[in-house]
Amino acid sequence: MEGVKHIVAVASGKGGVGKSTVTVNLALALSAQGYRVGVLDADIYGPSQAQMLGVKEGERPQAAGEDKFFPLEAHGIQAMSMAFLVNTREPMVWRGPMVVGAFQQLLNQTQWDNLDFLLIDMPPGTGDIQLTLSQRVPVSGAVIVTTPQDIALLDARKGIEMFRKVNVPVLGIVENMSTYHCENCGHEAPIFGTGGGERIADEYETQVLGRLPLSLSIRELADSGNPSVISEPDSPVSQTFGEIAKRVASEVDGAAEQGPTISFSE
Ligand SMILES: Nc1ncnc2c1ncn2[C@@H]1O[C@H](COP(=O)(O)OP(=O)(O)O)[C@@H](O)[C@H]1O
Ligand SMILES: [Mg+2]
Ligand SMILES: [Zn+2]
Repeated sequence: MEGVKHIVAVASGKGGVGKSTVTVNLALALSAQGYRVGVLDADIYGPSQAQMLGVKEGERPQAAGEDKFFPLEAHGIQAMSMAFLVNTREPMVWRGPMVVGAFQQLLNQTQWDNLDFLLIDMPPGTGDIQLTLSQRVPVSGAVIVTTPQDIALLDARKGIEMFRKVNVPVLGIVENMSTYHCENCGHEAPIFGTGGGERIADEYETQVLGRLPLSLSIRELADSGNPSVISEPDSPVSQTFGEIAKRVASEVDGAAEQGPTISFSE
C-alpha cells in the first residue's frame, strides 16, 4: 500500500471491549517511540477516532489531486475516518455493500505520508469489512483485544480463527479491563474475571501483549481527545501501552525479516 510500510489490524469479535481505545493509545505509543503512525478508523457505522484523537467536528480532509484525500493530523498522528467525511449526528442507514464501498474508499483514497505503521481500528465481528481488509491490502498482523470475560473470549476466538483462515498472523492478545482499580482506596476487583487473555493466548500459541485495568482515567482521557499515553505518559497504563508497542513493532519487523529477500545481480 502506497505510503505505508506495515498494516496492523486491531480487532476483536465483540464490540465495546476497547479496540478503539487500544488503537489510539497504541498509535500514540508507537509514535512516542519514533515511528510514523497512521490510524484508519474502519468502523463505518460507529467511528470513534475523531473524538479519541480530539479532531474537531466539521474538520474535513483536504483533497490530494483528483481522487485522493490527505489524512487529518492529530497529536502527530495521521488519521482517516468516516467521521471526517459525513455528519456523524445523523444515523447512517446503509446496506452492507455500501458500508464495504465506503471502507474501500477510505482504504484506497487516503494519501498516507510515509508511515511505518498504519493501525486499523476494526468494527466488531468477523464480517465484510474484515474480509475486505485481508483481501485488498497486505496486513502484517492483527492485535486481538478482549476482556477476560467468557463471552468476549468466545468472540475473540472467532476473530483469531478468521485471521488464521485468511493468513493474517495474530501478533498477540491485549487483555483489556483486566481488573478494576479503585482510585479512592486502591482496592482491586476482577470484574470481568481473570486469566482469560492468558488462556486464549495459550490455546492459539500466541502471546499476551499486555494487560490493561478497567480505569476511570483511561475512559475519561480517551473521551476527551487526549488519551492516556499523551496525557499521563509516565503512568503504569502508558508504560503498558509502551510495552505493547515494542512487542508489536518487533513482531512485525521480525516477520518482515523472515520474508523473502530480493537481490540483484548484474
Ligand atoms: N480499560 C478501560 N477502562 C475504562 N474504560 C474503558 C477501557 N477501555 C475502554 N473503555 C471504555 O469502554 C467503552 C468502549 O471502548 P471502545 O474502545 O470504544 O471499544 P470498541 O472499539 O471495542 O467498541 C468506551 O467508552 C471506552 O472509553
Ligand atoms: Mg470501536
Ligand atoms: Zn474503593
